[in-house]
Amino acid sequence: MENNLDIIKKLMIQYDRPFYIYNESVISKQIEILSKKFSQFEFLYSVKTNPYAPIVNFMASSGFGADAASSEEVIIAQKSGLSYEKILYSSPGKTLKDIEKTLDKSIIIADSYNELAMINDVAKQKKLHVKVGLRINPDYVMDIGKGVSSKFGVDEETIVKNRDFLNSLTNIKIIGIHVHLRSQVLNHSLLYRYYKKIFKVALFCKETMGWELEFINFGGGLGIVYSPLNDRELDIQLLSDECEELVHRFKDKINVRLIIETGRFVVCEAGQYVTRIVDIKESRGVKYLIVENGLNGFLRPSIAELLAAYAPQESKLQSCEPIFTVKDAFEFTILERKKYFSEKVTIVGNLCTSADIMAKDILIPKADIGDILVVSKAGSYSYTLTPVLFASHSLPLQFYVKANGEYV
Ligand SMILES: Cc1ncc(COP(=O)(O)O)c(C=O)c1O
Repeated sequence: MENNLDIIKKLMIQYDRPFYIYNESVISKQIEILSKKFSQFEFLYSVKTNPYAPIVNFMASSGFGADAASSEEVIIAQKSGLSYEKILYSSPGKTLKDIEKTLDKSIIIADSYNELAMINDVAKQKKLHVKVGLRINPDYVMDIGKGVSSKFGVDEETIVKNRDFLNSLTNIKIIGIHVHLRSQVLNHSLLYRYYKKIFKVALFCKETMGWELEFINFGGGLGIVYSPLNDRELDIQLLSDECEELVHRFKDKINVRLIIETGRFVVCEAGQYVTRIVDIKESRGVKYLIVENGLNGFLRPSIAELLAAYAPQESKLQSCEPIFTVKDAFEFTILERKKYFSEKVTIVGNLCTSADIMAKDILIPKADIGDILVVSKAGSYSYTLTPVLFASHSLPLQFYVKANGEYV
């Protein structure tokens, strides 16, 4: 079987342009961790993380459902072979067209009372009775306690006040709740307390509102290590033990599908961005490696550089997708160059903007023009968040290496 580096070299020679390469074996390992440690939960793959078809297909074939964030993602999930009840469609601001397009393909999670009314109208017109979910903004924030204002979902405390309205919806039935507060959580206790709160919200919906719930969707949150220096890996074993205790505590009161959404945890490390050094120059003491498609090939390292330059202190920005990005998150490897001939360089792209910096003053092996640069952690929120049309350079390609070494 060819190793990853040989495949990268071969692809660069054959296609002669930057590309992303995703490794199924890495995804597989992450899936196995979740399946083993959270056997009482179902997982949904958050398609927005990386909608590349071979990845979505592999998730579906591994038993994951789909967390779709647009009607188009519902179609992508459906094409991967998932059935209606395995696709949960949740996003704010759905249009009538979105609802008409997805009503028979997914469980739609309404994001507002208006959306509930709109889904009810569409169902009535089509003479259907449909099951839906409702996204709730709980009276809870992970490390603060009390709830805050949000553009997502309906506030928990408004549900009772809307009982008459909810009872008037003749053609829909609320069978599930969805909550998502935060991504990239590395503290298992935060997740545990959050899950406990959501169980209680679900119990309220069942007992006070009389909803016949079939699922609780706890949303995403499973974090990964970006900064080797500052991040401590999420303790999956402890979280697993705590989840088991919660399920045991609540299962007699509410025995439904328990769902966790995940994106970065399963695919981030599986992706690498590959480009080439096209020029090398020195300016007033700084050595620049200029690569093909920097910021417009893989945006995240450049955002990390911008943050380091303009918001160097702990900043709220860093907990905001697409950021979650720190300078030391990425490994930059020059293929076939030895570490002991290292030098300090700044890696920049070929755009006409000085924001196009991938890495400033890093120590890497001495490189030549034509060398291949590989950047890690390019599996999640990478291709899709990158402004690939900027300056009309050619788009990066994408390749998927299966566990058996074949690639597409
Ligand atoms: C509703 C919802 N679920 C799941 C996720 C996936 O989060 P992550 O990729 O951090 O696991 C997100 C990400 O923003 C989200 O908004």
